[in-house]
Amino acid sequence: MRCRWPHTCWAERTETMDGTPRNGTPLPCSPLDAGQARLIAESFRPMQAWGSRRDYYYTRGKLGSDPLYDGVLRHLPDDGQPVLDLGCGLGLFAHVLRQRGRQQEYLGVDVDSDKIARAQRAGSGLADVRFDCLDVQAPLPAHGGHVLLLDVLQYLDEAPQLELLRAVSARVAPGGRLLLRTPLATGDRRDRTTRVADRLAWLVGWMGTRPRHYPDPQRLQATLAAAGMQVAPLRPLHGRTPFNSWLLVAERL
Ligand SMILES: C[S@@+](CC[C@H](N)C(=O)[O-])C[C@H]1O[C@@H](n2cnc3c(N)ncnc32)[C@H](O)[C@@H]1O
Repeated sequence: MRCRWPHTCWAERTETMDGTPRNGTPLPCSPLDAGQARLIAESFRPMQAWGSRRDYYYTRGKLGSDPLYDGVLRHLPDDGQPVLDLGCGLGLFAHVLRQRGRQQEYLGVDVDSDKIARAQRAGSGLADVRFDCLDVQAPLPAHGGHVLLLDVLQYLDEAPQLELLRAVSARVAPGGRLLLRTPLATGDRRDRTTRVADRLAWLVGWMGTRPRHYPDPQRLQATLAAAGMQVAPLRPLHGRTPFNSWLLVAERL
């Protein structure tokens, strides 16, 4: 059901039995099955038997539990336009893209040079896939196509977040999409769980940057609309994870 509360219309909403608004139905998408996840994880096995298997187990667990990649693929047109993945981490989306038979050219960038080196090694067999080290707060590469920004925004302060959204919008081609997954400042239990988990990931060294700002949904939408994007209502994309993950789909008509 479409939102009936224009002043809070940042997400699709439905009502509970007592009339309380709640977030709309989560997107119908699922994590990879165990076999698909294991196949991709194999690319992250260390060369030597004594090498670290951290990326292998992380990848298996992440792909097998988070509906992110399936959810994003369902909203990414299969139209041959290139894909720019900002804050790509280990580049898991590139593997899923190719596993599902998509041929679109892919460039993933991340500020963490070590992750990029691991992404390059594991993705060396993927056709038309590149990874580069780049801070998304620096000028972005020239691009016209689709843009992904998956679980990255919260690592920037608010002003750079909005600036990035403007820069990204300028790189979405006509008919192209920005697919953005992000936690939001919703003030509920999922919000608190996500903040704790993000902070822990930074403290244990998995994330090289600490979380800085959890975005306000209306500001995100207003910024993208002002940049000429058509923005769909946010939908929950957390699957069975306890996190506060939302998908925003914005299109340049
Ligand atoms: C939670 S991970 C998400 C990885 C990937 N998008 C995915 O969903 O599989 C967040 C990533 O954002 C990257 N990141 C954080 N701040 C960044 C910045 N300023 N520029 C580029 N990448 C950044 C981190 O290095 C990390 O790899």
